[in-house]
Amino acid sequence: MFFHFILLVSYSLTFLCTHQVSSSGSSCTEYPVFTPSALVVKYGDPANVTCDVCEKDCSGDVFGLEHAVGKGTQNGTTMIWTADSLTEWDTLVMCYYNNDNGDQCISTLDITIYHNVSISFVNHTGMMFENQQYTLQCSVQNVALDLQSNNEHKKPVNESFTLNITPSREDNGAQYWCETKLELGPAGPQRPPVVTSEKLPAIVHYGPELKEPPNPDVITITEGDTLHLNCSSVGNPSPSYTWTLPTNSPSYSGSVLTIKSVGFEHEGQYICTVSNTVGTVTKEFNVDVQVNSIPYIIAGMILGALVLVGLSVGCYCKHN
Ligand SMILES: *[C@@H]1O[C@H](CO)[C@@H](O)[C@H](O)[C@H]1NC(C)=O
Ligand SMILES: *[C@@H]1O[C@H](CO)[C@@H](O)[C@H](O)[C@H]1NC(C)=O
Ligand SMILES: *[C@@H]1O[C@H](CO)[C@@H](O)[C@H](O)[C@H]1NC(C)=O
Ligand SMILES: *[C@@H]1O[C@H](CO)[C@@H](O)[C@H](O)[C@H]1NC(C)=O
Ligand SMILES: *[C@@H]1O[C@H](CO)[C@@H](O)[C@H](O)[C@H]1NC(C)=O
Ligand SMILES: *[C@@H]1O[C@H](CO)[C@@H](O)[C@H](O)[C@H]1NC(C)=O
Repeated sequence: MFFHFILLVSYSLTFLCTHQVSSSGSSCTEYPVFTPSALVVKYGDPANVTCDVCEKDCSGDVFGLEHAVGKGTQNGTTMIWTADSLTEWDTLVMCYYNNDNGDQCISTLDITIYHNVSISFVNHTGMMFENQQYTLQCSVQNVALDLQSNNEHKKPVNESFTLNITPSREDNGAQYWCETKLELGPAGPQRPPVVTSEKLPAIVHYGPELKEPPNPDVITITEGDTLHLNCSSVGNPSPSYTWTLPTNSPSYSGSVLTIKSVGFEHEGQYICTVSNTVGTVTKEFNVDVQVNSIPYIIAGMILGALVLVGLSVGCYCKHN
C-alpha cells in the first residue's frame, strides 16, 4: 500500500509586475510591453522574453533593451531577450524608447528566481517507528523576494515550513514530499509554477503481528490427517520464526508448520515465537490427536459381514 502525503505550501511573493518609468517630461502615452509580463525562473534555467517597444506612438527611432545578462536581438520594434542560465539575483531587463518629445519611456521586467524545494526530517535520522512523532521540514532555498516597491534590491531568503507526523504501520511505504506554489498575484502567470521536492519514503518499523486469529484452546485432529499450524505474521523488518515442538523433532523456522500425516507422537504443545528487531509475539497450539475410528468401523463391518455369511453358510449346512 502506498499512501502519499503532500505538504503543500503556498507562499506569496510581493510580486511587482512590469515597472513603467518615464523621465522628467512625462509625456509618455504608452510604455514598452513585455510578453510574458513577468518571469519566474528556476535557478540555472534558461529564460526569454519579448518586448514590444511601442504600438501607436512609434515615431521615435531611439529604442532598445538593456540587460545585465543574456543577449538581446531585435526584429523591427520587437526586442527579444534570451538567457541560457539565470543565476543572478539582480537580473535587470529594461526596455525603452524615446518619444517625439525626447522623453524616455521605460519598462523594467520583474524576474523572480527560485531554488529547489527540499524535504527532510527535523532532528531525526535512522529508523522510524510507528506511533512516534516526527517533524518534517520543507525548505525553499533562495527565494528572491521583492522586499520593497523598489525592486532593484532583491535579496535571496530561505523559507521553511514544518509538519508533525505520527506514522502508523499502514504508512509504511508511503512517500512524503512538498510542493510549493508561488502565488504571484494578478500580475503573475496564469498557472502559478509548482515546484516539487524529492520524495521521502517512509519506512515505518513495527513489531510482529499475527495474521491469523488466536487458536481454540485445543486443536483436535484425527490420526493420519494433515495438520497446519499457521503462525504467519507481518512486521517491519520481516519477522523470523522459531518453533518449540513437543517432541525432539528437527527444529523448524517457517511461518506455517505442516505435518502430512499426524501420529500420536505429534500430540502436545507447539509454541511459535515471531520476532524482529522491534518486538516479539508468541502463539501457542495445543494439539490433541484422536484415534482414527474409521478403519475399525470398516474392519468391524467386514467382520460382521463375515459372521453373517458364516451364519448363513452354517444355516445351509444345517439344512443339508
Ligand atoms: C522561451 O520561453 C518559453 C517559456 O519558458 C519556452 O517555452 C520557449 O521554448 C522559449 N523560447 C526560446 C526561443 O528559448
Ligand atoms: C520578425 O517578425 C516578423 C513579424 O512578427 C516575423 O514574420 C519574422 O519571422 C521575424 N523575424 C525573425 C528573424 O524572427
Ligand atoms: C533540534 O535539536 C536541537 C538540539 O538538540 C535543538 O536545539 C532544536 O531546538 C531542535 N529543533 C527542533 C525543531 O526540534
Ligand atoms: C539558504 O540556505 C542555503 C543552504 O542551506 C545557504 O547556503 C544559504 O546561505 C542560505 N541563504 C540565506 C539567505 O540564508
Ligand atoms: C534540485 O534538486 C534535484 C533533486 O531534487 C537535484 O538533482 C538538483 O541538482 C537540484 N538543483 C539545484 C540547482 O540545486
Ligand atoms: C496462513 O495464514 C495466512 C494469513 O491468513 C494465509 O495467507 C496463508 O494462506 C495461510 N497458510 C496456510 C498454509 O494455511
